[in-house]
Amino acid sequence: MVDAFFPATDNPVSDRYQDLVQRAQRDPEEFWLAQAQRLAWHTQPMQASRSDFTGDVRISWYEDGRLNAAENCLDRHVLYQPDNAALIWQGQEDGHREVLSYRELHARVCRLGNVLRRLGVKKGDRVAIHLPMVAEGVISMLACARIGAVHVVLFGGFSAEGLAERLKDSGAVVVITADVARRGPKQIPSKATMDDAIKLCGAENTVRNVLVVPVTGAAVPMQEGRDLSYTAEVALEIPDCPPEVMNACDPLFLLYTSGSTGRPKGLVHSTGGYLVWASFTHEMVFDAKPNDVFWCTADTSWITGHTYVVYGPLVNGGTILVYEGLPSWPQPGRWWDVIDQNQVSVFYTSPTVIRAAMREDDAVVQSRSLSSLRVLGTVGEPISPEAWKWFYTEVGRNACPVADTWWQTETGGVMITACAQNVAGKPGAAGLPLPGVAVTLTDTKGQDIAGEGEGLLCLAQSWPGQAMTLWQDHERFRKTYFSTCPGHYFSGDGARRDATGYYWITGRVDDVVNVSGHRIGTAEIEDAVAEDHAVVESAAVGVPHDLKGQALVVFVVPKAEGAFDATAVNKAVAAGVGRYAVPEKIYVVPDLPKTRSGKIVRRLLRKIAANDLENMGDLSTLADPDIVAELIKLVAQQN
Ligand code: WT7
Repeated sequence: MVDAFFPATDNPVSDRYQDLVQRAQRDPEEFWLAQAQRLAWHTQPMQASRSDFTGDVRISWYEDGRLNAAENCLDRHVLYQPDNAALIWQGQEDGHREVLSYRELHARVCRLGNVLRRLGVKKGDRVAIHLPMVAEGVISMLACARIGAVHVVLFGGFSAEGLAERLKDSGAVVVITADVARRGPKQIPSKATMDDAIKLCGAENTVRNVLVVPVTGAAVPMQEGRDLSYTAEVALEIPDCPPEVMNACDPLFLLYTSGSTGRPKGLVHSTGGYLVWASFTHEMVFDAKPNDVFWCTADTSWITGHTYVVYGPLVNGGTILVYEGLPSWPQPGRWWDVIDQNQVSVFYTSPTVIRAAMREDDAVVQSRSLSSLRVLGTVGEPISPEAWKWFYTEVGRNACPVADTWWQTETGGVMITACAQNVAGKPGAAGLPLPGVAVTLTDTKGQDIAGEGEGLLCLAQSWPGQAMTLWQDHERFRKTYFSTCPGHYFSGDGARRDATGYYWITGRVDDVVNVSGHRIGTAEIEDAVAEDHAVVESAAVGVPHDLKGQALVVFVVPKAEGAFDATAVNKAVAAGVGRYAVPEKIYVVPDLPKTRSGKIVRRLLRKIAANDLENMGDLSTLADPDIVAELIKLVAQQN
């Protein structure tokens, strides 16, 4: 496709991009060692990668280097630009705004670092952070990094059970939470949910202290000896806190994400490699400049928030915007006002947000200036060519490049995209691999596909941002990512490569559903539904959805015939996982399509739920082929 968005030249890439790609290919060691010079090291690394995708699998970057991540994000900028804005916090209500210079952010991080040390937090200990989009979220992450504690940021939408599971798995010793969180007109009881979560940990509880940030100042119960006021504690400390010098391969953080099977996986990211990747990709993808006001709208509890709200822009000395609220509250166009009021130059958001904005009257976006914008980006799900063009035209006013960035929690940062000023965008396509990123498409037998074609999206070589392992389960790490296409990292996604080498992401090929950019494992949903004792079994699948990209649909088989209360299923999901995962639709059915060996055939359920009834394929391998016609009838009745 060649159109206004995609220059009709033979060469859609800049000389700089081409040069970097060639240098990375010629000598990866040299290339990645040169990229390490982006950071300030206590001990310079002499080697780049010692990674190996075969055997037991080893991910290792800059092994002999030593550094501190918070020092890289703060101290070196305090030296030459102490008064530049590091963090702009904009509350969801007008008038709630705070600007922290690098000097001030550094001081706040140090005070909290000292509090954590006083509470006995040691290098390598885990600290859970459970905060809405307030400055203290960023401060907490950097304070952990400063003292060598491993942060585990937990989403505010998780239920108490979801939180408990992650607290237990990570063995967090301290939790930093909020009294309550604001979400539009609603208040989310963060502290109360955390109290329940710690109670649910029972004998396995490892949490010694809970620091409570007064987001609204609401009165919340405080447990004597355990719970402490964040404000009172930081006031006791001095704004200076010597950083812990870490090995490059020491974990910087754990972050939980959903897989196709089993419980959430705690991905472990390194200090050195991750930070090089955050710096390199932030600059490369967004053509980042020191005076940018960079607004990544993701919540800090997702990898996008880690890398592009916090580490990428700060390690590169930029200004980050942290916005507390929703896109269209208290009125449509709220986010456009936030851009104008804060002179945002790079705006990085999700296709879900763009689709919702497209549904509003175009006058909403057209009535705003948006003249500060320079670069746009999207992440988390495929963006349709229509949405891409709307974003480019209406938000970017035909003047800002759009980077549709493909990556994952596991990759630490962007892998495939159109880099602003360096790789031309193509509506609907993610783009080209970043320099040094070895993307391959493989067939189901593990053979690489050359040229144009479609296959499993894999990486043939490690890159600095790659997660090192799964927390306390390296074997699961190996099996999950390195057994499908031996010798390669397998992403779980499918993709197509076009004649110009651009990649088009076709979506997950496993049982992971992407609802508004939230990655949800169907097994987690089914486990939660199983807690409802009126259910024999269930199957969760994703179906296409106009606004959310995909929606979650659950087929449930009730124990007894007759009346069945489907709202109990919603309650079970809200309790076991969180409200964000409550299914769009529940179909009550007498049975599920299964193979003779008892495996649920999800492919059929996806088609039936999406009312996509052509090419149902060969049904003769089913234990009961008649079930398909019955399910089609029942789904139609229940719609
Ligand atoms: C999954 C990773 C990367 C941070 C946000 C999500 C899907 C991500 C794109 C894109 C199409 C995308 C993939 C991937 N995905 N970006 N630009 N186009 N799909 O991180 O929660 O780890 O989810 O999101 O399916 O595997 P995550």
